[in-house]
Amino acid sequence: MKYPKEYLDEIKTRLKVSTVVSKTVKLKKRGKEYVGLSPFKTEKTPSFTVNDEKEFYHCFSTSEHGNIFDFVMKTQNLRFGEAVKMLSNIAGMQPYTFSKQDEERENQWKLYKAIYKEFSEFYKNELFKNEKSFKAKNYLKKRGLSGVEVKNFNLGFVTEDLDYFEKLKKNFDEDVIKQTGLFYFDEKKKKFISRFRNRIIFPINNISGNIIAFGGRIIEDNKNLAKYINSPETPFFKKGSNLYNLDKARKLSNKLEEVYLVEGYMDVIGLSKNGIENTVANLGTALTSKQTQILNQFYNHIIICFDGDQSGYKAALRAAENIIYELKPDKKISFLLLENNLDPDNYVNKFGKDRFLEISAQRSIPIHKFIFEHYMSQTNESPSSKAIFEKKLREIASNIKDTFVKKYTLEYFLEKLSDLTPNINLKFKKNYKIFPKSLAKTKSYYNETKSLKSFEIKEFSFLYILITKSKLIHKNFHLIDNVKLYSDENKQLFEEILNQSENLLNLDVEKLNVDENLIKRVMNYASVKHIISKYLNDDDKIIEIFSEIIQDLKNYELEQRISDLESKFSQDMSEKTFNEIKELKKLQKIN
Ligand code: UTP
Ligand code: MN
Repeated sequence: MKYPKEYLDEIKTRLKVSTVVSKTVKLKKRGKEYVGLSPFKTEKTPSFTVNDEKEFYHCFSTSEHGNIFDFVMKTQNLRFGEAVKMLSNIAGMQPYTFSKQDEERENQWKLYKAIYKEFSEFYKNELFKNEKSFKAKNYLKKRGLSGVEVKNFNLGFVTEDLDYFEKLKKNFDEDVIKQTGLFYFDEKKKKFISRFRNRIIFPINNISGNIIAFGGRIIEDNKNLAKYINSPETPFFKKGSNLYNLDKARKLSNKLEEVYLVEGYMDVIGLSKNGIENTVANLGTALTSKQTQILNQFYNHIIICFDGDQSGYKAALRAAENIIYELKPDKKISFLLLENNLDPDNYVNKFGKDRFLEISAQRSIPIHKFIFEHYMSQTNESPSSKAIFEKKLREIASNIKDTFVKKYTLEYFLEKLSDLTPNINLKFKKNYKIFPKSLAKTKSYYNETKSLKSFEIKEFSFLYILITKSKLIHKNFHLIDNVKLYSDENKQLFEEILNQSENLLNLDVEKLNVDENLIKRVMNYASVKHIISKYLNDDDKIIEIFSEIIQDLKNYELEQRISDLESKFSQDMSEKTFNEIKELKKLQKIN
């Protein structure tokens, strides 16, 4: 009996040729390809090439050529069946056993996929051709989607056609149609009705590009209906093991380092439309470690970018806690938190690709840091609260599976925790630096305004003094040289202030061309305002406070750079990176 093509394809899609080959041949990247010394011949100059995109290897000195199966058969003297067994194991798949049941399942899979394909084609056509689809078309237009995206993502609209089940029954067995989950039985009408009627459908493909499920969105607000529904789990669709758009995104892994993991279908389409196609979504359920493992087969760096609202933050935190245990030395997981309730789709449509990539490079924080900062923000001054904090972090670190990652994560947590016990540290550390004075104050505010990051509040304080003491700062203009703000909105306000007033000489807040809420936020949340109110006429003191804030902001920038380098170090382990970290840490001490 032959192995089903699906099964072999899945092995091929899960394993890059370079992954398989590099287990026996040392490869070097050259452009899109890899080169190495031929395993079929002794040679000094490399003539053996691997191309992941085309899924083959080629040896110029022996003319050997083939795919991953050929490679292990030839280099390890295996028969085809043995090669399949070995590679499916590496790919993390179940071994294929040929039983009567398997044959049955294989047949069902063929029909299942044919039904989904037919359903999708039919309703794609309905979206374009059926007059009744005008509302759906308008809706898509309103969301900024053109025919290009609709075609790329194979969107369709399920018109109110009550007889499609009957139509399918002419060609397919009723049991298989039921198995697809596309229809449910309506007791009143006594017939099978399409689950997705009056919804725009987003086909969800398996890794090889076959449609295995749909997501469906309503086009008019209706409190009684779920905004999105998915196909139910079926024998061929398991939510925690699939990712929306993985079939397309995986193809870019030869060219790109990272993949974005977002919450929604529209986020994937919005980013894609703006030229960021290395994006997948996790189908409205909690992120599973299985899903990260699948992504890691293609990408070394996963950037999780969920919605910038409360529920997005919670989902991100839950994801972080679900997957940190799986962290591997050569893999990296980061979080990019968006502000102001924006989701990636809104963000990229509003600010464009470059800005998105820029904030992604600047502001993504590694998973261990994200977890630390979250629990830090939940902690108050009391000893028991701090004790819970430390226990929690130790527990998280101790459950990490990889022993090296476990060790260094714990070390990272402990190093940060030691900042909470300066007096105990004093015994051990000579040059201990006392915590900045403003921290306690900032922290109590931090608890009141949980959604704000500590650096944002610092930035508010900076802007607060800039606005309320503009004439004074004008005289000390050199102080604000090289000040860099991280929050997009604060940055914008800062720029606007500088543009509008000549070096702060004649600032008129009323005339600033920014959202007035932004200024209100600064005025409300700037933790410094209470301190400033005490020293209203003491210019020297205000300049001292202002300089301290600037120093904190610069330290924040340093911290960001250090943490970027630390993530890099965990990947490349290079001495150069290590030395750079050391240098920056020295700078941090001086500051
Ligand atoms: P969102 O509500 O953030 O969706 O849910 P979105 O993609 O931004 O949607 P638009 O912009 O309003 O169209 C994120 C994801 O959560 C799942 C879907 O997979 C959705 O894409 N979800 C959401 C559901 O499964 N059911 C729902 O009722 C809502
Ligand atoms: Mn959203």
